[in-house]
Amino acid sequence: MIGIFDSGFGGLSILKEILKEPSLSSYNFVYLGDTARAPYGNHSPEVIYNWTRESVERLFQDGCELVILACFTASAVALRRLQQEWLPTYWPNKRILGVLIPLAEEAAHISRFGRVGILGTRATVQSGALEIELKKQQANLQIFSQAAPLLVPLVEEGWVNRPETKKILRYYLRPLKQKKIDILLLACTHYPLLYKEIVAVMGKQTQIVHPGKIVAKKLVDYLTRHPEIESRLGKGGVRRFLTTDRVDDFERLGSKFLGERVKAEAII
Ligand code: DGL
Repeated sequence: MIGIFDSGFGGLSILKEILKEPSLSSYNFVYLGDTARAPYGNHSPEVIYNWTRESVERLFQDGCELVILACFTASAVALRRLQQEWLPTYWPNKRILGVLIPLAEEAAHISRFGRVGILGTRATVQSGALEIELKKQQANLQIFSQAAPLLVPLVEEGWVNRPETKKILRYYLRPLKQKKIDILLLACTHYPLLYKEIVAVMGKQTQIVHPGKIVAKKLVDYLTRHPEIESRLGKGGVRRFLTTDRVDDFERLGSKFLGERVKAEAII
């Protein structure tokens, strides 16, 4: 089984793209959204690390061999520490992947002028983790980051098309536009739901990198390169959705993010 973890509903925008990949859709997936404690994006690194570790542990106990942190905040703040300090001691045969490296690889590959913008939660931007991954890909990239903490609640309230949201988006994107970035990384699970609005502000000169599609493509590569993991993943098209809070809320918002009906189970 493949576990997909997110602080809440947002990771379903990543799972949606994973399920569109023909070679991935037959695997069994269990999604865990820690909705009781979301959003993570304004919390401290220590808190985000502990909450992420607890959720990954739960997914491992449920039989996942591979867990994807489909949450930029968790990937930025907790992934390296989990991989280096926790996994080797407690679950040495299991794997955890994040969403930063796929985006960094893609950006380095497609950027024409090496001017990369990052839009993310406060914790993601403050961690500097995506900058580090981008520099590993290409040391001379010029990187400009912008935290956009108001966007997550606006998306969850369904305010995507409201003039207020467009105004706030313009406020966040203006500094990046002034830096003449040629690539914008949507480094938060909620921002793809604002894709059209972001394109409208940034214009045609900026390529907007949609995280779900890239993560799905990189997961196909990863499983091809790691047959020892791939062979342990069950196939049969099972989908389970776990939430740490109200099932009705999860099903309502989750269906929007996934683009299909979600039937959730509460784990409390
Ligand atoms: N899933 C988070 C991310 O991608 C956004 C919501 C949150 O702040 O928890 O960064």
